[in-house]
Amino acid sequence: MTEELAPLGAFEYAAAPESRAIVSLEDGYGLYVGGKWLSPAETYTTISPADEEPLAVVGQASAEDVDAAVGAARGAFEGEWSALRPAERAKYLFRIARLLQERAREFAVLESLNGGKPIKESRDVDLPLAAAHFFYYAGWADKLDYAFPNRAPKPVGVAGQIIPWNFPLLMLAWKIAPALAAGNTVVLKPAETTPLTALLFCDVLRQAELPPGVVNIVTGDGRTGAALVSHEDVDKIAFTGSTEVGKAIQRELAGKGKGLTLELGGKAANIVFDDAPLDQAVEGIVNGIYFNQGHVCCAGSRLLVQESIQQPLIEKLKRRLSTLRVGDPLDKNTDVGAINSAAQLQKIEELVAAGEQEGAEIYQPPCRLPERGYWFAPTVFTEVAQSHRIAQEEIFGPVLSVLTFRTPEEALEKANNTAYGLSAGVWTEKGSRILWMAQRLRAGVVWANTFNRFDPTSPFGGYKESGFGREGGLHGLEPYLHFDA
Ligand code: NAI
Ligand code: MG
Repeated sequence: MTEELAPLGAFEYAAAPESRAIVSLEDGYGLYVGGKWLSPAETYTTISPADEEPLAVVGQASAEDVDAAVGAARGAFEGEWSALRPAERAKYLFRIARLLQERAREFAVLESLNGGKPIKESRDVDLPLAAAHFFYYAGWADKLDYAFPNRAPKPVGVAGQIIPWNFPLLMLAWKIAPALAAGNTVVLKPAETTPLTALLFCDVLRQAELPPGVVNIVTGDGRTGAALVSHEDVDKIAFTGSTEVGKAIQRELAGKGKGLTLELGGKAANIVFDDAPLDQAVEGIVNGIYFNQGHVCCAGSRLLVQESIQQPLIEKLKRRLSTLRVGDPLDKNTDVGAINSAAQLQKIEELVAAGEQEGAEIYQPPCRLPERGYWFAPTVFTEVAQSHRIAQEEIFGPVLSVLTFRTPEEALEKANNTAYGLSAGVWTEKGSRILWMAQRLRAGVVWANTFNRFDPTSPFGGYKESGFGREGGLHGLEPYLHFDA
């Protein structure tokens, strides 16, 4: 008996949803100030971008609330925290790291629920890296004098930290871990669309018995962020987000003598030479731009491909795109989840429309997008000119712009032809060419034959409009210290 086989490509995955049961959400959350929950006067509802379901009511912190949080942080800094033996400080960080590992599944589910990213990514990337950052900086806490010999490192005081929505818990870890390791206290503001893992993190702080006021978390939108930036008693601001807001913060702080680090946007070139292993390069291109729906500041959003291999590479890429599974972020098979917010979806749609209007050629694999929530299909633009908006502006979505080059010099010139400079990728078999390119690329991170790899020991940060200051590694401690010598 012969059964009719389904045509190739019609293979369907059964749904494999991760259970939400591990997360128990409160109906509402306050502001975490001085180890207690304050009730804010103003609130809003945070949703799941995958289906617009309301998840919880959270606070929109006012300037007075921010003032209370900064006061709590100052009190903790002047009190026991800055006087604590560094080895004791390290113990708290180790405890936080271990608790994050223990509760990793709960955090991963909540991250995907509130932010729309695939559970595969929050489980395998965000959570392990967040814990790794705490472990890594825990190790430095009692070794600062060795890290900065003869410079008498001291904490700066109260750090105000503002983070975006693309890696909510991971950006929290990038900010809080080095600040505490260096002996500072913190007021952190999560992004308005993704406050929930930061609020759950307060429970980790309770479990770790961190002294009250060392970490304070105030939720709210840009108004809350602006109140934190302009607060007189904050010694240092660390910001990750849009270049536009970064510039506004820099203007606000000009001449005030406060510390500032900015990690802003990017428009990275992912450069593929004709001697690169094409199948591996395709995986790197896909990981470079479709990872986290392209909501990645260092995303490889411009593919620069050597002209002689353009056709086979683009063919392979399109074939690979048709196998990406777009849908439910909590499904373990999902590759591309939901767009984080209605506003971000609108921005992506506007830029994609501009790409079509300016004459680039669009390709999207056939895929069924869910009806509710915010969704955008993986997209590739070919025939892109350097002057096109989609080659210049950060789209922050699953949209790749393909340009071509003939010589390494031309690749370099095109790669550097951007206002940004956060990251770049080089694909070639030649080691000498990797080094030649890496020396000349004006980008903070250059990946060779890979893309979007992160490690807490490795400094990360930008050139030009991608910002200044480094996070990660030893470099990441410096902005949280001042030096007498
Ligand atoms: P945004 O820069 O407005 O938001 C980032 C954070 O800054 C959020 O916590 C927000 O509440 C806060 N914020 C907003 N206005 C502020 C102000 N005046 N003072 C202090 N804090 C303020 O970014 P948005 O509007 O969510 O996204 C717009 C574009 O920015 C995206 O399409 C993307 O291109 C880029 N972006 C880049 C990120 C990166 O990782 N480099 C992260 C988020 C957005
Ligand atoms: Mg904004």
